[in-house]
Amino acid sequence: MSDILTVKNYSLKLKRDKRTYSVIQSASMHIGKGEIVGLIGESGSGKSMLWKSMLGLADPARWSCSGDIELNGKRISDPGAGDTAEMRGKDAAVILQDPMNAFDQVFTIQHHFLETAKVHKDWSDGETRAKAIELLRRMNIREPEKVLRMYPFQCSGGMLQRIMIAMAVMLDTPLIIADEPTTSVDVTVQREIVSILKEINREKGTSILYISHDLKIIESIADRIYVMYAGYLVESFPAGRLQEGRVHHPYTKKLLQSRPSYTRADLPVMEGNPPTLAERQQGCPFTPRCEYAQEGCLSFDMAETRIGNHTVRCCRAESLSEELAGDGETR
Ligand SMILES: Nc1ncnc2c1ncn2[C@@H]1O[C@H](COP(=O)(O)OP(=O)(O)O)[C@@H](O)[C@H]1O
Ligand code: SF4
Ligand SMILES: [Mg+2]
Repeated sequence: MSDILTVKNYSLKLKRDKRTYSVIQSASMHIGKGEIVGLIGESGSGKSMLWKSMLGLADPARWSCSGDIELNGKRISDPGAGDTAEMRGKDAAVILQDPMNAFDQVFTIQHHFLETAKVHKDWSDGETRAKAIELLRRMNIREPEKVLRMYPFQCSGGMLQRIMIAMAVMLDTPLIIADEPTTSVDVTVQREIVSILKEINREKGTSILYISHDLKIIESIADRIYVMYAGYLVESFPAGRLQEGRVHHPYTKKLLQSRPSYTRADLPVMEGNPPTLAERQQGCPFTPRCEYAQEGCLSFDMAETRIGNHTVRCCRAESLSEELAGDGETR
């Protein structure tokens, strides 16, 4: 499978108050054509800044990045310099977490469709309208003609989220980035959105980067998963291996242990917090929370190890392999 996105050694720094903070460190990832890739990790780990900065949405006065990025066969040499503006909406479309803020309340839904199409497509207003109606129907929105005449504040959050997906799909980009798209909607709409995105992926072969901190959702949609912790991609593996006893990084193991379950009376929580940007130091950032930490962890250079079809950034990955993923089945 060839890739729609490849990222090699990508780092992002934030300049604030005359200091520089590492937000993302040497991230390497790829998304195959037609693949759904999940990205999980606690809040603040860098999931959103990863795609935002690569697509040139981080103010170059405050953010600086380095590394190799190739999106849809095109090299992004300097995201901060603006060579990504044309790629947004052409090579990648984005679905955001908060639909209320993604729409301008003073314009109708139809106006949003027309403006989006004007920037990226050579369609007449009539053509855009017809496509919008067809897509809204696909998103299970009843009376789409009526909805086009409505204002965002007249729609529910779930409806706006489906309208935002319709606008992203209308652009027909080979990659859709969905950043926590189901966080602000109820469980029924969550399921509906996941099933719509899967359908689009199946029918059109659209690649999807699905970002969430909800392991259950990621498990239900992704083919492959990346786990992020304090700016590092600490593990990646095929989605079927997102189970206790099958993952190789101590952080991924903890994430799995702290997921809520109907069969457990206690609500498990992961002790401690990830380091803030100012607290990040040399070595493995998970050290203070890791039950397997040893002295060498604080000087570990966070190099990637390959174990079966996992990539892992842990200096003890090989030696812990039996204990963490002792099923012996790594492929
Ligand atoms: N606009 C911003 N200004 C300053 N710091 C930011 C900004 N956006 C994000 N950050 C910082 O960058 C880090 C990564 O944030 P983010 O990518 O939003 O995390 P996630 O999406 O995983 O929750 C966090 O430490 C966050 O505080
Ligand atoms: S490098 Fe050390 S602290 Fe980090 S995850 Fe591995 S064992 Fe734990
Ligand atoms: Mg985020």
